[in-house]
Amino acid sequence: MQPRLECQPLNKAKRNCPFRFHKNTKIFLSQVYLKKYFYIFAYYKVYHYNFIMNQIDTGNLTELKNKVKEKLNETQLFKFKGTVSKLLGLTVEVKLPGLKIGDLCFIETYDGRQKPAEVQAFKGEVAQLLLLYDGEGIGQGSLVTSTGKPIIIPVGDFLLGRLINPMGDPIDGRPLDTTGAQWRPIEGPPPGPFERPIITEMFSTGVRAIDSCMTMGCGQRLGLFAGSGVGKSTLLGMIARNSDADVNVVALIGERGREVKEFVEDALGEKGMAKSVLVCSTGDQPPLIRQKALLTATAVCEYFRDQGKKVFLMTDTVTRCAMAGREVGLSLGEPPTMKGYPPSIFSWLQKVLERAGNSPKGSITALYTVLMEGDDISDPIVDIVRGIVDGHIFLSRKVAEMNHYPAIDVLGSISRLMSAIATPEHKSAAGKMRALMALYRENKDLIDVGMYQPGTNPRLDTAIDMMPKINAFLQQRTTDIVSMDTTINTLVDMMKDVEI
Ligand SMILES: Nc1ncnc2c1ncn2[C@@H]1O[C@H](COP(=O)(O)OP(=O)(O)OP(=O)(O)O)[C@@H](O)[C@H]1O
Ligand SMILES: [Mg+2]
Repeated sequence: MQPRLECQPLNKAKRNCPFRFHKNTKIFLSQVYLKKYFYIFAYYKVYHYNFIMNQIDTGNLTELKNKVKEKLNETQLFKFKGTVSKLLGLTVEVKLPGLKIGDLCFIETYDGRQKPAEVQAFKGEVAQLLLLYDGEGIGQGSLVTSTGKPIIIPVGDFLLGRLINPMGDPIDGRPLDTTGAQWRPIEGPPPGPFERPIITEMFSTGVRAIDSCMTMGCGQRLGLFAGSGVGKSTLLGMIARNSDADVNVVALIGERGREVKEFVEDALGEKGMAKSVLVCSTGDQPPLIRQKALLTATAVCEYFRDQGKKVFLMTDTVTRCAMAGREVGLSLGEPPTMKGYPPSIFSWLQKVLERAGNSPKGSITALYTVLMEGDDISDPIVDIVRGIVDGHIFLSRKVAEMNHYPAIDVLGSISRLMSAIATPEHKSAAGKMRALMALYRENKDLIDVGMYQPGTNPRLDTAIDMMPKINAFLQQRTTDIVSMDTTINTLVDMMKDVEI
């Protein structure tokens, strides 16, 4: 009989297998299998974590943590908005909590433009802001936001050859690439008295009359005093082109619009412009922005001084800046004192002018032009600037009328540091020249009417003899470039045979 072939189902075959695990055993085994991989994975993770932690400098982590904390403290998570309650001239009264003096605010006009204004004073619960530009479009209830910070400007080497306004915006028709810029507040403290290195190095202006008789030192501040139209701007342009400074910063304050282009193209020229930064606020602009021009120019100088550069700051004119300060003070209700200037302007000038000078890193040599209204030397601004600076150069209308340019009144001008920085031969030659000029001036009337008999006074004879040479030496065309060494050698050579 044929055996009967029986096809068993698969599960039945499995059931008959002698090596069978109980259901619970299977679960146990799979757990062991998984656990093994879990431990391998966990071990790898701990090893990796340790490896990373060994690589990280924990000092840096603490620093990073502190920086994040600092930023979070600074960050305002909400923004207050105030409203305009009164607008009179350029003074705006605003109700907004948290404002402080010097904060830059923006006032929204009805058509959505933002007008910058600065907090100047408080009157009861309202803050008094002064508009930096015009207030067109602002009305009762206009919204005000505060940046919580003073005016800051971008500074960097990209400013060289550029013309900017006091807010740091370009006004020469080209965009300003501020990549890598340092943002600096325009107000700041001067270097401490003990931080200032003593002035020992001469500063060459390239102008014979200045380098020979009122030699400037690196880090010195001088006042250039003159009436209108005597040649201040022309002299500044000559120095900007010919000086041995690394960087020139020129603040043009309250000038006529026409003069700015003239100064850039004629006085500075391409060579002067390449190493210059111009900060400009013309006379038609509101007073606060005009006053800020001197602060912005000083902040730009400070940036370059921090880079170790020899900076030359020229201001044309401090008087127009002080006049702008007078308008600001009076509009805020300060009492007028001498010539209407409010008392705050004098301490303000002292503070700004003190920011120039030497620091351990570099130097700011400054020439502050002061306009003598009606050639009046008793003007309060003339007096105050003369008291602050370390020397003064007077331009004389009489000298200019004789077509003697630059019209420097050598006998009326002095550099308080010349005796400390010039060589003995240089000082002796300059002294002789001054003595001859003084003697000639004293006797000029006698000489002119022919009442002086040659041979009567040998010193006066020498003076009469030398005057044409001295005048030729002191006159200089705007295009002449003369180095400090050439000037000193010529002077010493000219005076070597003079006995006085
Ligand atoms: N070195 C010079 N050589 C020849 N002419 C000069 C020289 N310096 C000045 N001038 C003459 O004096 C005029 C006035 O000069 P400048 O504009 O520099 O005077 P300013 O004192 O700056 O005047 P303002 O007070 O109006 O600003 C010039 O137009 C020019 O004719
Ligand atoms: Mg001028």
